[in-house]
Amino acid sequence: MNNRTYRVIVAGATGLVGRKMIQILEERRFPVGTLIPLASARSVGQTLRFHGVDLPVQELSETSLAAAQADFALFSAGASVSRQFAPIAARVGTVVIDNSSAFRMDPDVPLVVPEVNPQAAFTHKGIIANPNCSTIQMVVALKPLHDAFTIKRIVVATYQSVTGAGWRGQHQLELELEGKTDPDPKFPHRIAMNALPHIDTFSDDGYTREEMKMVNETRKIMGDDSLRVTATCVRVPVLGGHSEAINVEFEKQCDTARIRKLLAKAPGVILVDDPQSALYPLPLDAHDRDEVFVGRIRIDTTVPSGINIWVVSDNLRKGAATNAVQIAELLNAGQGV
Ligand SMILES: NC(=O)c1ccc[n+]([C@@H]2O[C@H](COP(=O)([O-])OP(=O)(O)OC[C@H]3O[C@@H](n4cnc5c(N)ncnc54)[C@H](OP(=O)(O)O)[C@@H]3O)[C@@H](O)[C@H]2O)c1
Repeated sequence: MNNRTYRVIVAGATGLVGRKMIQILEERRFPVGTLIPLASARSVGQTLRFHGVDLPVQELSETSLAAAQADFALFSAGASVSRQFAPIAARVGTVVIDNSSAFRMDPDVPLVVPEVNPQAAFTHKGIIANPNCSTIQMVVALKPLHDAFTIKRIVVATYQSVTGAGWRGQHQLELELEGKTDPDPKFPHRIAMNALPHIDTFSDDGYTREEMKMVNETRKIMGDDSLRVTATCVRVPVLGGHSEAINVEFEKQCDTARIRKLLAKAPGVILVDDPQSALYPLPLDAHDRDEVFVGRIRIDTTVPSGINIWVVSDNLRKGAATNAVQIAELLNAGQGV
């Protein structure tokens, strides 16, 4: 049995994802010997509790990364911070698991979802990327179906929680629900009672970067560049949990009985599909859970072989923190650190 303990940095420790990472490292009893919470200079003076001990937040810097002598660094402080500091951490021998979009499409950086492509984690050269939250839950649900029927095309529309935009997104919705106006809004429009077809920035072709993350990351994780994926990403006034309506077209003939059977035993998936009893996946039910919930399974009769499904997961957990900690667990089990 491996009794090793690790020195673990959480960079962006004061954010929604960073706090969740600390909670999940504790919950899953990851063998942390020393936890080092890092954030911006603004947070120095704050403490964060880990296993009952209040740990001081230090400033993320070249000096703090070198002094930490860490085995792992879980980064969730945004792409520009990762671009600046993740290579520095990797250079001093720390394995970085990065939640931002900075390195996801770098051919030298594996993009890992442990239920889908765990082996990729062991090819790392110091940095491993955690996919986008919307991509993670989609590939967990679709991987067993791809293996069985070979996916030709995916059309997905997302209904993404405000927490996917960090603490400022959550704060804006909470203020608006109290009838107030956020003086420093995260979103370009009111989010309460609204739905915004706008996540991340628009490209010249009309797609948002969030939509193209779903296209490109899905291909990389599934290891299939020919996979056709198209997405519309929408922000909705939900306080945690992303939902996705996914239409999938297959090469081989599918049927709902086999799909249900495959999903019922798929790792990390829970089937909730009894619409006559009003049972289907809901963000409120997925809250604080690590699984990806799948339901509303219907044959798409407009194509030779296809389905429509509804997929829900907690974006801060499986969509971010849990997936990152699972990657660290993989490396610990395989001694890949
Ligand atoms: N929210 C999600 O569902 C989700 C899912 C997947 C991936 N992600 C990614 O995870 C990252 C963080 O997201 P979040 O939702 O946790 O955002 P957040 O709540 O806004 O937190 C941002 C964190 O980054 C830190 N930070 C900002 N600028 C920094 C700097 N210059 N140096 C050091 N630390 C800095 C903040 O520290 P201070 O408190 O000191 O400002 C805070 O700890 C983003 O890259 C996001 O795309 C988020």
